[in-house]
Amino acid sequence: MSTIKKHLVTCALPYANGPLHIGHIAGCFLPSDIYVRHLRNAGKEVLFVCGTDEHGVPITLKAKKQGVTPQDVVDVNYKIISESLDKWGIDFDNFSRTTKPIHHETARDFFKTLYDKGVFIEEVTEQFYDEESNQFLADRYLTGECPNCGKDGAYGDQCESCGRTLSPSELINPKSALTGNVPIRKATTNWFLPLDTLQTDFLNDWVASKKDVWKAHVYGQCMSWLNDGLKPRAMTRDLDWGVPVPIDGVEGKVMYVWFDAPIGYISATKEIREDWKDWWQNEETELTHFLGKDNIVFHTIIFPAMLKAHGDFNLPTYVPANEFLNLEGQKLSTSRNHAVWLHEYLEDFPGKEDELRYVLTSIMPESKDSDFSWADYQARVNNELVAILGNWVNRVMVLTHKYFEGVVPSNENQADYDMLATANQSVENIYNLVQQFKFRDALSELMSIARLGNKYLQDTAPWHAIKEENGEQRVREILNVSLQLLALFSKTCSAFLPHTSVKLKEMLNLKESGLMAGQQVNKASLLFDKIEDEDILKQKEKLENQAKDNAVAPAIEPIKPTITFDDFSKLDFRVGTIIEAQKVPKADKLLQLLVDIGLEKRTILSGIAEHFQPEDLIGKQAVVVTNLAPRKMRGVESNGMLLMAENTEGKLVFVEPVGGIEPGSIVR
Ligand code: MF3
Ligand code: ZN
Repeated sequence: MSTIKKHLVTCALPYANGPLHIGHIAGCFLPSDIYVRHLRNAGKEVLFVCGTDEHGVPITLKAKKQGVTPQDVVDVNYKIISESLDKWGIDFDNFSRTTKPIHHETARDFFKTLYDKGVFIEEVTEQFYDEESNQFLADRYLTGECPNCGKDGAYGDQCESCGRTLSPSELINPKSALTGNVPIRKATTNWFLPLDTLQTDFLNDWVASKKDVWKAHVYGQCMSWLNDGLKPRAMTRDLDWGVPVPIDGVEGKVMYVWFDAPIGYISATKEIREDWKDWWQNEETELTHFLGKDNIVFHTIIFPAMLKAHGDFNLPTYVPANEFLNLEGQKLSTSRNHAVWLHEYLEDFPGKEDELRYVLTSIMPESKDSDFSWADYQARVNNELVAILGNWVNRVMVLTHKYFEGVVPSNENQADYDMLATANQSVENIYNLVQQFKFRDALSELMSIARLGNKYLQDTAPWHAIKEENGEQRVREILNVSLQLLALFSKTCSAFLPHTSVKLKEMLNLKESGLMAGQQVNKASLLFDKIEDEDILKQKEKLENQAKDNAVAPAIEPIKPTITFDDFSKLDFRVGTIIEAQKVPKADKLLQLLVDIGLEKRTILSGIAEHFQPEDLIGKQAVVVTNLAPRKMRGVESNGMLLMAENTEGKLVFVEPVGGIEPGSIVR
C-alpha cells in the first residue's frame, strides 16, 4: 500500500583526488547500480545521481604537492573517474561535479536559506593557525592523536581509524599537515549548525524510527553518536578552495566540504531535471543514499539535519552503508598504493566487466568487512561463472543447434514446468533480497537458477534420451524448458551482470514478448574465459611493485633537542608489573591495563592492542612513566604511560628488566 511513486537513488560522491579502486566500488557504486537496475527492471521510475566531490582539503594538499592548481587536480581525476565508471557500466542519470556553477549556486541558495532563517550560530572561536604558511588549519590540514582510539594520524574533522568525527580542538598533540609545526590559536568567525538542538528537536526521534529500517551497524553507529550528545559543528572554513560563504561582507571563507558535497545530490538532479523539486520535495519520492561506513554520520545526522533545518526537503528513507573491503588481507590504501584501480582493471581485463561485478558482489562487505584476493577472484570466475553459468548456457545452445537447427522446440504438455516454477520462486526471492539490500544472497539465488539448469540437463540427459524410442519428443520438452529457464535467467541477471544479460538476450534472440516455440536462436558465443594462473601472478606482482614504488625510506627520527638535568629529573620512572589486561570496546588500538607500580595499582591505557594479546601480557614488566598528567580516552582515565621500544617498521617490543625486579623499583 505504499504511495511511493518515484525513487531517487544517490551514490556517495567520490573525492576527485585520485582514481577509484575496488573499495569504492564494492562500497557504494556497485550496490547502488544493482539496486537501480533492479528498480528499473521492476518498472519503477528512478533517478540515479552522483558526481565528483571536488572541494575539501585533500585536494588542495595534493595540488600543493604536485605544484598545480586544485582545479587541475580535479579536472584530471574527474576524467579518469567518469570514464572508468562509464566503461564499467554504471547506470547514472547524471554524474556531475561540485565545481560546476549550478552546484555553487545551489549550495549558495541552501546556505542562504539557513542563514536567513537564523539557523546558524555565529561564533568567534580560536582556531588552529600555522604561522609559517599563514593559514588556518581546517580539517585535514591538522593531524594529531585521536581522543577516541588513541591512533596517531587522525585529522581535524575525522579519525579514519575508528571513524569518529572530530573537532580540531579534540585532537591530542595537533600538528600542521603543511609544515609539521605546532599551531598557534587565532580568533576567527564561523557559522555553526546547532546539532545539539536539532538532536532534541528531531534527530533523536527520527533516528529511533529507523531501528528496524536501517542495517544494524548503521543504526548502531548513529545511536552511539546520539548517546554521546551532538555538539554544534562549524559549517564554514577559513580556506580559499570551496564554495564561497554567501554572507555580505564575508570574504576568504568557504563552506565546509561536508556542507556542500551532499547538496551535490540536489544540484546533480537540478542539472538534468526541470522537475527536480518533484524528486526532492514530494513525499511520494523515496530517497536512498548508498555510501561507505566512513560516511554514515554525514548521511544519517548532518545532512538530514541540514535538510530538516531548510524545511522543504525529504529525508532519506534508506541509508544502506557498506563496511570496508580489504585487499589481500590488508587495508586498501591510496597513499601506500595498495589498491586495485578500476581504470587499470578495465585495461588489464578487457571485456571482463561482469567478472569483477560478480566477484565484488559475492564478497560485498554488507554487514562486515570482507577481503578481495586475486586467488579468490580466479576461483570464483573459473568455478562459478565458467564452470556453472558458462557451461550451462553453452550446453543448452549447442544442443538446440544440434537437434533442432537452432529452432526453439515446443512443449505442448508443459512437461517439467515445475522447473520453471522453482526458478520463478528464485526470481521472487531475488526481488525481496535486493529490496532488503542483501546483494550477496540475491546473487547466490541467481546462481541457483544456473545450477538448477545444469542439474536438469544432467538428470534428463538429452544426449541419451535422443537415442530412445520417441526420444525426440522428450528432448523437445527438455530443451524447451532449458531455453525458457535461460530466458528467465537472462532477464533476471541484468541487474547483476548487465553485459552478460545483453549477450544472452542476443544469443536467444529474446523479444519483449518472451521466447516462442518455433523461433530461431543465434549461435552460442563464449560468455566467460578461464582466468589463467599467469594472469593472477601478474596482478600479484603488480601489487607488490606498486607497494615498493611507494615505500618511503623508513624515517629515522632525529634526536630531540637537548634538555637540562633538571628537565630530566622531573620525570618519574618505575618498574610496573601488568596484572590485568583487557581490550577497550570499540577501540582497535587500545588496551586497558592494571599495573602494579609498588605503591599502588594504576589503570593505564596503552595503544598496543594490535601488537599483543591481552592474555600474553599478564606478569610482564615494563618501565612506567608515573607522573604524567592523567588523560581520558573512551571514558576511561589513563594514569601513566608504558614505555616500549619501536623500530622503523612500527614493531613494538617490551623493554623489561633483565631477570625481573620488584614492581615499584625506581628507574633512574
Ligand atoms: N567525498 C566523500 C568521500 O569520498 C563522500 C561525499 S558524499 C556526499 O568520503 F554526500 F557528500 F556527497
Ligand atoms: Zn580514532
